[in-house]
Amino acid sequence: MDVVVVGSCNIDLISYATHLPKEGETITGTKFSTGFGGKGANQCVTAGKLGAKVAMVSKVGNDAFGQDYLKNLQDCNVNCGQVKVVDDVSTGVAAITVADNGSNCIIIVPGANDLLTVSDVEAAEDLIKSSKVLVCQNEIPSVISLAAMKSASNHKVKVIYNPAPAQKDFNPELFSLPDFFCPNETEAELLTGCPVESIDDAMKACRDLTENHGCNSVIITMGKNGAVYQQRRGVDPLHIPVDAVAAVDTTGAGDSFIGSLAYFLATRPELPVPEMIKRASFIASVSVTKPGTQISYPRADELPAHIFS
Ligand code: RIB
Ligand code: NA
Repeated sequence: MDVVVVGSCNIDLISYATHLPKEGETITGTKFSTGFGGKGANQCVTAGKLGAKVAMVSKVGNDAFGQDYLKNLQDCNVNCGQVKVVDDVSTGVAAITVADNGSNCIIIVPGANDLLTVSDVEAAEDLIKSSKVLVCQNEIPSVISLAAMKSASNHKVKVIYNPAPAQKDFNPELFSLPDFFCPNETEAELLTGCPVESIDDAMKACRDLTENHGCNSVIITMGKNGAVYQQRRGVDPLHIPVDAVAAVDTTGAGDSFIGSLAYFLATRPELPVPEMIKRASFIASVSVTKPGTQISYPRADELPAHIFS
């Protein structure tokens, strides 16, 4: 395996509207669609669409959503040997609203995602150790992510951790275990307690994360402003910009970045990390030009050749 993801599967229920509703407001939307989402699966499918051999460790409910989801993963060539279907719980769902300007808000009901256990991770140990990169996020209990990361680092498997969605109570090992700690601005802000609005702020947040929280490499993704990368404590952070695109739907763009980064780390380890970040940001920028999450992620044959050179 190139990339294994221990993480979430959600069915996305996406309503499009001119603007996001305010508290207490009811508005009429313009369009509705369902999609395959969940940060874990999004990241896994991104890497798979780029050509990596990918596997998922996950749980879905024994309902129509769960059956559909399993079929989707199989259709996307994701190894599903460690994806379990569980009774008496709903498949994870995300109720998403997308406004005309591309911004969104999301309510997640984890359902089966919350039932992943340490024994599921133990059962996946052979899979994890045979992979080049493990990716984890915050849509499953953090003890499970920790167990997966420990197993990966024991076997010298590179670990990317995307602390999304933002969570305040944080086991300190979640900072120090991953090789790459990759929050977006909001998550970096919550974790460091400092505002992260500008490139300069992000550089400060990187320094805080490496110096005061024990992170190894830090990548803060900043949407249309690209990303800020600090290789390790004491080294100057770098800003890696990305070209502007007309955003249609930014949902899951961060996942497209993380999955692409995992793809390059696993399949092109000789590339300098800033170059991987540049390419991953480009791929994520392509995903925001189309509606939806996984369905908007480009396949290798839809991307320019320089992405793979
Ligand atoms: O990052 C986007 C994802 O977050 C969506 O696919 C949705 O499922 C939520 O989990
Ligand atoms: Na999209």
